[in-house]
Amino acid sequence: MFLKNAWYCAGWDYDVHQGRDSIVARKIAGERVVLYRKPDGGVVALEDRCPHRQAALSLGRKEGNSLRCMYHGMKFNGEGICEEIPGQTTIPERACVRSYPVVEKDNWIWVWMGDPAKADDRLICFSVGPSDPDWHIKTSKMHVETNYRWEIENLADLSHLTWVHPNTVGGDRAYGEIKPIHTITARGINTLFWVRSVAPTGAVKHIFPEGMKLDICFDIQHTVPCNWIMRFRAFSAGTNTEGESNGKLLVDTWTCQTVTPCDEDSVDYYYSWGASKETEFPGLSNLLGGTLDEAFTEDRIMLEAQHIRRKEKPNLKMINISHDAGPGKMLWVLDKLIREEGQSQSVTEPA
Ligand code: FES
Ligand SMILES: [Fe+2]
Repeated sequence: MFLKNAWYCAGWDYDVHQGRDSIVARKIAGERVVLYRKPDGGVVALEDRCPHRQAALSLGRKEGNSLRCMYHGMKFNGEGICEEIPGQTTIPERACVRSYPVVEKDNWIWVWMGDPAKADDRLICFSVGPSDPDWHIKTSKMHVETNYRWEIENLADLSHLTWVHPNTVGGDRAYGEIKPIHTITARGINTLFWVRSVAPTGAVKHIFPEGMKLDICFDIQHTVPCNWIMRFRAFSAGTNTEGESNGKLLVDTWTCQTVTPCDEDSVDYYYSWGASKETEFPGLSNLLGGTLDEAFTEDRIMLEAQHIRRKEKPNLKMINISHDAGPGKMLWVLDKLIREEGQSQSVTEPA
């Protein structure tokens, strides 16, 4: 079940370029979408399905602003309107392809999967992209064979850093003991917590002096469908036990992540991490970016095995623990919006 009236990330801006063969096939919230870039730079998103015999338009050919189906040659413009049917002069009214609103923001490409009249750019999540001059952001992506709801659970509960990521972004027992504050917003949750006087994690331990302890602040904005934006700051361990650390700020970073459900069984995960210009030192942001690739491989192994088991026994009554509070709130907001969307459709659509 997917929220339709939402912006879904279709990839990094560099995924869709001016190359002749840069015609990108995606599956987003159960729909097949083809993306290409017009000569003027604008990105087009069409249903990846020719209305003639359902050939993949992503196997097509770019011709100026248009895309030609390379099965029998029908040509469609960026609005999905058929411009040519080889062998005939008339073009049936229904010979068109669905086109989706597209916006590029913070180096991500966003596609609106619902009612085009409701596409509102202001609903695109806040993010810090790699072109932001104040930050050194490194980008990456990963495909995961799991349901996006398990990804939401994963990202809304970072107690798993202790157990899943001992050698990358976690490990200290303190992460398993966190008591985050989750605040519900109109389209997600905000989460804030500190871990204090913890050892640097496995991936970065070698760059700090032996025995050094850190205070770390996690400040997260999580919005539907699954956009997860975190400011992560590490300080030398101070004496404060509440509120802002009184240690020295060592690293100030943003990690911007978005999980796009392809269908019920897989997601495309686009993510980044990097430090501020003030706290960057040569090689740091490359280290952070590479660390996420390793960490998300650890998550991928856990979430893919979990997905297989949850499909085997979908009705198993699972137990809840206190760390499920964040996931519970985030899924509650998502399900509420999905429910409201269904209700508004049933009101406006004729029976
Ligand atoms: S399937 Fe596209 S033109 Fe025939
Ligand atoms: Fe993780």
